[in-house]
Amino acid sequence: MSKKIVVVGPGNIAHAIVSRWLQVADADISVLARSKTYLTKGWHSDEQQVVTFDRDIVANADLIMLAVKPKDMLTTLAQLKSRISSTSIVLSVAAGITIGQIRHLLSEPGIVRTMPNICSEIGTSVTGISFDNVATEDRSWIMSLINLLGHVVEMPEHLLNPMTALYGSGPAYVYVFLKAIIRAGEDLGIPPEHARELAAHLVLGASQKALIDNDKSLDQLVGQVVSPGGTTEAMLRVLDQLGWQDIMHQALKAAGEQAAQLGQVPSRL
Ligand SMILES: NC(=O)c1ccc[n+]([C@@H]2O[C@H](COP(=O)([O-])OP(=O)(O)OC[C@H]3O[C@@H](n4cnc5c(N)ncnc54)[C@H](OP(=O)(O)O)[C@@H]3O)[C@@H](O)[C@H]2O)c1
Repeated sequence: MSKKIVVVGPGNIAHAIVSRWLQVADADISVLARSKTYLTKGWHSDEQQVVTFDRDIVANADLIMLAVKPKDMLTTLAQLKSRISSTSIVLSVAAGITIGQIRHLLSEPGIVRTMPNICSEIGTSVTGISFDNVATEDRSWIMSLINLLGHVVEMPEHLLNPMTALYGSGPAYVYVFLKAIIRAGEDLGIPPEHARELAAHLVLGASQKALIDNDKSLDQLVGQVVSPGGTTEAMLRVLDQLGWQDIMHQALKAAGEQAAQLGQVPSRL
């Protein structure tokens, strides 16, 4: 019999994960909503069949995935606590909320904290995961589910905030980077209908090479592209003058600090 998964909060990340699992996972999936705003989050009519407003749905779930905003976690757990069985496993994707904070309210269930990204929808997320009080067999099952969302790495829990900043938010800064390449492409005469496709394949191809050639440093890979007096050299000179490495570093550090801040919800969580 298929295992029962209940996803609480039908928002953006829940939609990305559930739409992937509905296609490739062998599981009985339901999604608990509290309002109809989910209708604006991209759920197709066939996907909407799994959405319910019945909180009792969490009873006897094998896995309850909490996909609400950190600020809503306290209310959500208070609403569901009496319905959650001690044999269920509770998995949170909420930024900044620690296993300890959830354990404060739920003393018995196994708890999993994970940080997938929006690319889960197409199975290309980069995901960190930490377990607390989860039996080996259940860990394997959960790892196999999260593996369906993309590349997953088990991490000590204290690294989940940095992972949120780098890889949870990551698609957004890659898209901002793509926008810059697309804009420059259009300025230099690349037809708009090709500019996005070319930029996206560029990032994909260069990233694949960085993975495959992992015996070479990134400076060596840059060196393979630069020739004296060439276009790459001109570009790198301007990037250096503008201090873009520092800009990126500061931006990602700010994201890391914000991830920790998000966990500063009322102390009774
Ligand atoms: N978006 C991402 O890329 C991403 C990636 C990794 C992790 N996360 C984490 O995932 C969580 C959700 O983020 P999101 O971007 O998906 O937010 P979102 O689009 O705002 O979704 C949150 C959903 O939770 C629902 N909700 C809140 N309390 C509820 C309750 N008690 N019962 C049922 N549903 C409830 C909200 O419903 P209403 O609309 O009715 O308020 C909304 O549909 C956050 O903690 C975030 O840190 C997000």
